[in-house]
Amino acid sequence: MSERTIEPRVSAPLLVDTDALREQVRSKYRAVAADPGATHHFHTGRPLAQRLGYPAEVVDAFPEAAVESFAGVGNPFSLRRLEPGERVVDVGCGAGFDSLVAARAVGNTGRVIGVDMTPEMLAKARANAASTDTGNVEFREGLAEALPVEDGWADTVISNGVINLCADKRAAFDEITRVLRPGGTLQFADIANGEPVPEDALRDIDLWTG
Ligand SMILES: C[S@@+](CC[C@H](N)C(=O)[O-])C[C@H]1O[C@@H](n2cnc3c(N)ncnc32)[C@H](O)[C@@H]1O
Repeated sequence: MSERTIEPRVSAPLLVDTDALREQVRSKYRAVAADPGATHHFHTGRPLAQRLGYPAEVVDAFPEAAVESFAGVGNPFSLRRLEPGERVVDVGCGAGFDSLVAARAVGNTGRVIGVDMTPEMLAKARANAASTDTGNVEFREGLAEALPVEDGWADTVISNGVINLCADKRAAFDEITRVLRPGGTLQFADIANGEPVPEDALRDIDLWTG
């Protein structure tokens, strides 16, 4: 884990059609909410959580519906254990598995807000919170680039497999910085490419979603 200040910068011009990208992303994750057992181009559910190193006792404590649509790329909790009482925002929460894990970790004195742009994922996340009787979590519809959370609310922001899907990463990080209190913590897992990406590849939505 490294700590650094994120300086505001002017975003580079977005070559991809952002609305079309979001529509394709929604379409893919709508399918993961509705039919997690189908063949997707990524792993899902309990086998994925196990592969990514979530402790078995954490995963086993949840019913199948709360885990089956998990589609993360790492384990944000491996970077630092959440403390009781923390306020957490889960950016791109999907069906809410990480939000529920966070809600248990922060306990009754803490709170979790999960944000996602895919209504079917949010509906599933809300149903999972209800079925697991998790009262300290709420799910809000919104974009990573325009988080529906007040300034400085969060002690911690978590995110898992989402920022790679955002066309405007600068806007997403600016929003994360805005909702974090001074000295708050960002713990995220994602996919990063260390090489410059050619412009025609940046325009190709299939490469973004694939
Ligand atoms: C790979 S899934 C990960 C979901 C969840 N974090 C998990 O680990 O299961 C990506 C999620 O990010 C959401 N997403 C993608 N781009 C987004 C954006 N710009 N704003 C909000 N949500 C976004 C999708 O709707 C999807 O639910």
